[in-house]
Amino acid sequence: MEKRNTFKGSIGFVLAAAGSAVGLGNIWRFPYLAARDGGGLFIVVYIILALTFGFTLLMTEVAIGRKTRQSPLTAYSALRKKWKWLGVLACIIPMMIFPYYIAIGGWVIKYLVAFITSSPEVAAADGYFGGFITDVTQPLVMMLIFGIAVAIIVYMGVNKGIEASSKIIMPLLILIVIGISIFSLTLSYTDADGTVRTGLQGLKVMFIPNLEGMTVKGFLRVFMDAMGQLFYSLSVAMGIMIAYGSYVPKEANMSKSVNQIEIFDTAIALLAGVMIIPAVFAFMGTEGMSASGPSLMFVTLPKVLAAMGPVGRLVGILFFGMVLFAALTSAISILEAIVASFMDQFKVSRPKAVIIESVIGLVVGAIVCFGYNLLYFEFTLPTGAVAQVLDILDYLSNSILMPIVAISTCILIGWILGPKTVIDEVTRNGEKMNRKGLYIVMVKYLAPVLLTVLFLTALGLF
Ligand code: PHE
Repeated sequence: MEKRNTFKGSIGFVLAAAGSAVGLGNIWRFPYLAARDGGGLFIVVYIILALTFGFTLLMTEVAIGRKTRQSPLTAYSALRKKWKWLGVLACIIPMMIFPYYIAIGGWVIKYLVAFITSSPEVAAADGYFGGFITDVTQPLVMMLIFGIAVAIIVYMGVNKGIEASSKIIMPLLILIVIGISIFSLTLSYTDADGTVRTGLQGLKVMFIPNLEGMTVKGFLRVFMDAMGQLFYSLSVAMGIMIAYGSYVPKEANMSKSVNQIEIFDTAIALLAGVMIIPAVFAFMGTEGMSASGPSLMFVTLPKVLAAMGPVGRLVGILFFGMVLFAALTSAISILEAIVASFMDQFKVSRPKAVIIESVIGLVVGAIVCFGYNLLYFEFTLPTGAVAQVLDILDYLSNSILMPIVAISTCILIGWILGPKTVIDEVTRNGEKMNRKGLYIVMVKYLAPVLLTVLFLTALGLF
């Protein structure tokens, strides 16, 4: 059998994994949840969960990958024959996410191009976003450009494609995020009735806990929001970290790398908050922050950028360029998890696997784009939200399948094979594993219980 490729070093692995973890979730979802959920309280809960729950899931998946040297589809059965079904589930998830992720990647390209070629007022105009996604051809073309770029990088392989691109993109991304954050803090704006609002005041809204009127039920919601966000943000429970883990050199210090990935992901989420919240607050006050989901990034932010005057255009180009980078490295990891699975299972070559998988992804991606025009319908999810194709794929993968995969993984490692399987892999070169006791308690008891509650909440049972 051909020798499996590995990352050249742990920096390559950390940057590639952080590239997967840092994505749209960090940039628009985290700031929005933090602003909505009592500011500092959400952040504190999130950080505590990241150090316990997030660390457990991430460590487990990377260890499964490195130990088995297999991708998600075949890794679980390599550990225990009868658990093949879990590999199949873990491989279906990225297949469902890839099409809608490239559709959103296409939206980001559209905004980047809009800021490069015209003044910010164009993208800030009412109805701009709606007009774009209801158009039949434009979103499709943008998705194709994004999807093909991702396919080319994955085609180039683990070292020349994934590792090399992450090493260039991730440092650039950090620089842009820090630059815009500093700029955002210096903003101030006087509105029509003479009220002056500054970016620094907006920062307080995000970081200072607002416990006014907080109830036990309210706290539970903050807790569940933080856990759901963490789960998505670290790219766990969808096979990705198993695939990347399978390329980690045996001599790398896993414990250290996993910590670095976690810190990277959390730091970028916090900085994204510093970048967005002060700016939105200065120009729009607290109402501006109530926009949820995609509308924060594609409707509210362009308005904020337009209100900044001439500099808004440059900031917009940098911002959407940075979002494009973040989305690109995440999409690469999603496609890689699928491609590696097919290569391991069916023993096909990388080029063949990439071509087959990207064609499937692009066809389903086209259906996602048509969900806003040709195939428009309204479907109500158990959570009460009105959904199109994109939201349905997102709901099925994130709220249903991902908790099932994560719970099952904890049962397999915690109860059937024993936490020692992971601990031995982490400490195979004699390294110390940080938080070992915590790991055992988390993987056996706390993580499966918390995940089950999260799952029941998603089904609308809570
Ligand atoms: N972790 C990514 C984020 O925070 C999202 C993601 C989802 C990445 C699925 C890969 C796969 O946005």
